Amino acid sequence: MKPAFLTSLTRTAVAAIAVCSCAASFAGEVEVLHWWTAGGEAKAASALKDQLQAKGHSWKDFAVAGGGGDNAMTVLKSRVVSGNAPAAAQIKGPSLQEWAAEGVLANIDDVAKAEQWDKLLPKVVSDVMKYKGNYIAVPVNVHRVNWLWANPEAFKKAGAKLPTNWDEFFVAAEALKKAGVIPVAHGGQNWQDFTTFESVALGLGGTDFYQKALVQLDPAALNGPTMTKVLETFRKVKSYTDKNAPGRDWNLATAMVIKGEAGMQLMGDWAKGEFVAAGKKPGKDFACVAAPGSAKAFTFNVDSFALFKLKNEANVKAQKDLAAAIMSPQFQEVFNLNKGSIPVRLNMDLAKFDDCAKSSAATFVESAKSGALVPSVAHGMAVPAAAAGALQDAVSQFWNDDKMSVASAQSKIAAAAKIK
Ligand code: GAL
Repeated sequence: MKPAFLTSLTRTAVAAIAVCSCAASFAGEVEVLHWWTAGGEAKAASALKDQLQAKGHSWKDFAVAGGGGDNAMTVLKSRVVSGNAPAAAQIKGPSLQEWAAEGVLANIDDVAKAEQWDKLLPKVVSDVMKYKGNYIAVPVNVHRVNWLWANPEAFKKAGAKLPTNWDEFFVAAEALKKAGVIPVAHGGQNWQDFTTFESVALGLGGTDFYQKALVQLDPAALNGPTMTKVLETFRKVKSYTDKNAPGRDWNLATAMVIKGEAGMQLMGDWAKGEFVAAGKKPGKDFACVAAPGSAKAFTFNVDSFALFKLKNEANVKAQKDLAAAIMSPQFQEVFNLNKGSIPVRLNMDLAKFDDCAKSSAATFVESAKSGALVPSVAHGMAVPAAAAGALQDAVSQFWNDDKMSVASAQSKIAAAAKIK
């Protein structure tokens, strides 16, 4: 079923596009909706702007602040419904299919064929970028979500060692607490709560459990004993966060680890973009390790831009130039060095990338072979937006209400999984 907000969208948008009869000229303008406003994110976004401008076009920035993109998606919907879609918008995962089904996205097969995208992308990615066999979006990167970021100084002060499983995580957390350091930097927003939750589920339950419970939404897995343990552990993580966590932005949580106010953060590798933007070096000023218990697994989050149907020829040309630029090796390198992610384009030279990125790239390849490559629910890769939203709400209610029993949370999550 299509979400209610999109129902009359096609008619309105097509009518509005039809009234625009703008003059064609070579240089076009591309309005780009994204939510990359934090330090590393903004640097990465400006690399995209540079690419477009180098081709003689102009970039109209349409940044909507708010990690995880919830705010950006709300604004995008209202813009498209009022017939004023941007040329490109950061839309990811199954949502691409929902938008394409509305008939508002452009077919960019000509660019994809000319540039041989089918050969340059992992199939698991190119499949998501296509609607009924035609490319409607272009991928930018591959983020790994199941990371733990740590401040080595804080660990030293606490005499703690980097954890490899959840038992060790709590030993380290306890030691950090005793040393007067906030053990876990957390931002209490739904998508951040779920980012932590899915890493706990993956690390404790393994990839089979993760797939069954969070991707297939299998009632037996959602109601079973592993999920009970996941929820108990998730609640225990909360007890090591500080009282100012509610509402905090993810990059402010990362800043706590950068400054040594906090010891660890469970976050995807856009957090590395923050460390790097602050001039910090991996292995020296900060550590990146897999989220406890998930070293061999890879929770993926692929950022992509969907291209909206436009009438103005110069803008269509600019839009296609943008799509081609995104897949170029040069852009893939500079963008991902800033963003913390790895290139989505295959066979890239990673010489300039750090050890966190190299380890991410190796695990990406190995996990794809072993079946341990799983989509992130928190980042819109796994299930349609309506179910993902309901699951996130249920998980955050539990996180925010210390009096809610695990059993009650578990049945709320199982009920949320049925939302279509
Ligand atoms: C993710 C997105 C990343 C990063 C993060 C925080 O959903 O895929 O690119 O921006 O949100 O904003």
